[in-house]
Amino acid sequence: MSSPTSTPTAFRTAIVPAAGLGTRFLPTTKAVPKELLPVVDTPGIELVATEAAEAGAQRLIIVTSPDKRAVTEYFQPQPELEQTLKDRGKAALLEKVRRGPALIAAETALQERALGLGHAVGCAEPNLTDADDAVAVLLPDDLVLPHGVLTRMAEVRARYGGSVLCAFDVPREQISAYGVFDVTDTDDDDVKRVRGMVEKPAPDEAPSTLAAAGRYLLDRAVFDALKRIEPGAGGELQLTDAVALLISEGHPVHVVVHRGGRHDLGNPGGFLKAAVDFALEDPEYGPELRNWLVERISRS
Ligand code: UTP
Repeated sequence: MSSPTSTPTAFRTAIVPAAGLGTRFLPTTKAVPKELLPVVDTPGIELVATEAAEAGAQRLIIVTSPDKRAVTEYFQPQPELEQTLKDRGKAALLEKVRRGPALIAAETALQERALGLGHAVGCAEPNLTDADDAVAVLLPDDLVLPHGVLTRMAEVRARYGGSVLCAFDVPREQISAYGVFDVTDTDDDDVKRVRGMVEKPAPDEAPSTLAAAGRYLLDRAVFDALKRIEPGAGGELQLTDAVALLISEGHPVHVVVHRGGRHDLGNPGGFLKAAVDFALEDPEYGPELRNWLVERISRS
């Protein structure tokens, strides 16, 4: 484990919990994992795998359930399909098909039942090696833009030790939709020390306007804490309860306040915004979509 004075602590391993039921996307998620729904043409899970790889992760542990194996299959090479595309001279498509498997070494950890995010992260522990003194956790339904916050979080861990989370500053009137950090200042405006967290507070009771985002750089101590917390509502083990236990035991926890954009892919409304946002930037689909949106909105 690192001390605050040790050399910068990178991470080699990123965990992506993808074993949830995806009820907000029913009925589609009866058959298709929400992590594979395409933002334009690329599944959300490839977007977060790209972010993890860019931050230096070498392994991606995808926590998935027995009936969602398609999520990890997505990262397997498809030699027959590749050959067909090659034979047909479809170079751009071949590049897209190869992109996911080439990004990062993906492997599976199984969560037999959806017993909460904390439980899902705990299911990845057997996949870790002795070298993993910290792990990154990326929620695949949360796009944090532009990429780079994980690198900043690693710098903060190198300075303060412990665990580092990611926050967005949101308008106070919207704060009750989020988990909110109770923080104290550091000498860096964008880094705060965490005292605690409050789930979905009323605006006038929120301890800050810093809302939790789905990026975590967790000291390995979190796996021990996950074994010592009690399940909450619905028998679920919450990751934030394990972090709260660590804080109560004096473990340093900081947040990096990310001044960028974000898309919530976890519900159809947020997913549509992300798809439109990405499509408007797409050279193939953007111009026509823009014209159509302008015309469509003028009619409404
Ligand atoms: P969410 O609560 O957003 O996803 O969990 P969900 O439970 O699949 O969706 P709804 O609420 O039913 O619509 C955040 C992430 O944690 C994973 C989910 O797959 C999602 O990527 N997760 C959640 C697990 O892997 N296991 C769990 O037990 C719960």
